Amino acid sequence: SKNMLWGGRFTGGLDPLMVAYNESIYYDRALYSQDIRGSIAWARANHNKGILSADEFSAIEQGLKQVLEEWRDDRFEIKPGVDEDIHTANERRLGEIIGTGIAGKLHTGRSRNEQVATDMRLWLRDELRKIEGFLTDLLRVIASRAETEIEHVMPGYTHLQRAQPILWSHWMLSYGLFFANDLQRLREVIVRVNRSPLGCGALAGNPFGIDRDAMAEELGFDGLIYNSMAGVADRDFVVETMQWGSQLMLHLSRWAEDLIIYSSGEFSFVKLADAYSTGSSLMPQKKNPDSLELIRGKSGRAFGQMAGLMMTIKGIPSTYNKDLQESVEPMLDHVKTVGDSIQIATGVLSTLTIQPKNMLAALTPDMLATDLADYLVRKGVPFRETHHISGQVVALAEKTGTPMDKLSFEQLQGVDKRFEKDIVDTFDYQRSVEMRSAKGGTSKSCVLEQIEVLKKSLAS
Ligand code: ARG
Repeated sequence: SKNMLWGGRFTGGLDPLMVAYNESIYYDRALYSQDIRGSIAWARANHNKGILSADEFSAIEQGLKQVLEEWRDDRFEIKPGVDEDIHTANERRLGEIIGTGIAGKLHTGRSRNEQVATDMRLWLRDELRKIEGFLTDLLRVIASRAETEIEHVMPGYTHLQRAQPILWSHWMLSYGLFFANDLQRLREVIVRVNRSPLGCGALAGNPFGIDRDAMAEELGFDGLIYNSMAGVADRDFVVETMQWGSQLMLHLSRWAEDLIIYSSGEFSFVKLADAYSTGSSLMPQKKNPDSLELIRGKSGRAFGQMAGLMMTIKGIPSTYNKDLQESVEPMLDHVKTVGDSIQIATGVLSTLTIQPKNMLAALTPDMLATDLADYLVRKGVPFRETHHISGQVVALAEKTGTPMDKLSFEQLQGVDKRFEKDIVDTFDYQRSVEMRSAKGGTSKSCVLEQIEVLKKSLAS
């Protein structure tokens, strides 16, 4: 059968596989409400230019609202092989409701090229605003846990080797900082997403003097795309969203990896709530951190979508090419993946319990070797020398099988005469934490300051 929308110059039918290959309705139906809102704004602007009479406009508006209801109530019947995408489906249905005589005037001066870009931007803007809320929730949980659990000391790691004592809150806030940057970046992305391409036409612009500003305002856009060719060619708003989403997922993935390690039997620093764990079908004792593993795993999918879309776009010539349709499906999935992942992360973090005794038990005296070196620095010994001396103390502890803090005063003096009785004060994890009180450090006062900084970043 001939396509109603563009079939005028065609004589033969499409290869059946080509029909399926071409159609996007099974995923771009997600844009149904944006498509209808955009069409109502379009019809109103055309009415204001005298293209549609008041009666025609009102018939179109009422008809489109009915189509919207059908989608909402899951009553919309997609016509396989006819409804190629959401734009054709909605217009086909409108024609059935109000008659093609009037419905056929809706698309005057409009191209699906501007239509799809408009729908995608509207959808993306609204979803990104929801995600902004999810991310804010995550940051709030981090800030509030960091505040209430500020007493707890744990090992901090480099190379996954025990390095120096830190506050558990300091660990949480380290990711909080990454996520706060993600929030700031997201707000910048939304500004560029939320610009209207409606009125750009197929590529050259609108010949009926349509009021683009009025349509943009009706649709809640913050401004226009000021070049009609750019307006239909541009999928940077999707690429940028995916770059943003990839960076966020990268942060979430590392965060998840830390918690997977910390929840393992060997560490047991944290216990995940049942709500975010699953069991094994074979091993009755198992409680697995699937939520975190899925975050880590789905990050790969997100990066792939970003790279894939850039590949799709990089070689196409100016303005609209059908390749661009390939931006829709990954956009929908990417945004869902990112939004879900943030919410799962918030759920995991707000319900996990910490096991401070295990955190303490994992601290070892050699983690204070830097503090031992710093002790001598305070007595005027050059750091390079104190590093060496402290290293000798570590070696002595290892050789004699005595924990560093249990070495006798004589043994320490044997390594260096400048150790005095007050050296015992150094063997204190809490003290080590409190010593790091320059801004950004792990001392309590610094951590409290970080919490304030984080809270400020939430205000848009
Ligand atoms: N479904 C198409 C897309 O998502 C709509 C635009 C089609 N435009 C065209 N000239 N074939 O890109």
